[in-house]
Amino acid sequence: MTTILFTGGSGLLGSEFKKQYPSALYPTHKELDVTDKDSIETYFKLHSFSTVVHLAAFISPPKINENPRLALKTNICGSAYVVDACIRHSKKLVYLSTDYVFSGKKGNYKEEDAIFPVNKYAWSKLGGECAVRLSDNYLIIRTSFGPNVFPHEKAFIDQWTSRETVSVIAKKVGMLINKNATGVFHVGGKKRSVFDYATEKKRKVSIQKASIKDVPFLLPTDTSLNTNKYKKFIKNGKI
Ligand SMILES: NC(=O)c1ccc[n+]([C@@H]2O[C@H](COP(=O)([O-])OP(=O)(O)OC[C@H]3O[C@@H](n4cnc5c(N)ncnc54)[C@H](OP(=O)(O)O)[C@@H]3O)[C@@H](O)[C@H]2O)c1
Repeated sequence: MTTILFTGGSGLLGSEFKKQYPSALYPTHKELDVTDKDSIETYFKLHSFSTVVHLAAFISPPKINENPRLALKTNICGSAYVVDACIRHSKKLVYLSTDYVFSGKKGNYKEEDAIFPVNKYAWSKLGGECAVRLSDNYLIIRTSFGPNVFPHEKAFIDQWTSRETVSVIAKKVGMLINKNATGVFHVGGKKRSVFDYATEKKRKVSIQKASIKDVPFLLPTDTSLNTNKYKKFIKNGKI
């Protein structure tokens, strides 16, 4: 059985993985700070594992617009340090990227489609992807997820997504990890508006309609993902 180290394991997705991989390593931010090369090196030397699932990131688009240096430090430099350690210590690296690497002009994006983010958060995640691609043993997952109960009072009627709840995405990503997938995979559910996603059965029902034009930062319109490669791989064990 693969032994896994999760960076950012206390976050939304990491907390879901803890249920799936209870005996994996989940260092706190303090125990393994991805912006600190020495902290990474010390942790790698002291613990035994074969795969790193790199979740640690700064993920708020509005905060990153205000202070892009936070994303530069954590999402780009931090990811580069993690990649460097994985190369030197011969670890497989799994990186969680975002559907926001696409411009959102057409939707139904395939893994090989052209990438062109519309906001700084997504550029920083793409920066992480670039670093990961310098490794020879990686899995990049582009996805979108939210808490199991929709947390906001409003949801966009004019933004389209393949978003799923975090528990669904953690299981789908876990299947790729367990089958030792490599390369780039899109993971998500069916295309719908964020409003339809938010008001689906079992989620909070009193949600108001909102528009992406109402927020003071740029959001892509349609970053729905084509997940055919994922479905084929899970069914046949090959691409
Ligand atoms: N949410 C989405 O829709 C979505 C979509 C696609 C991809 N992703 C990606 O999926 C990953 C997980 O997202 P999430 O929603 O679970 O994020 P999250 O809840 O914000 O969790 C982020 C985690 O990273 C840790 N962290 C931040 N800076 C760190 C550092 N310098 N060193 C070590 N740990 C650090 C945080 O710990 P502290 O809180 O202790 O600082 C936290 O555990 C991220 O890479 C994100 O970009 C998210």
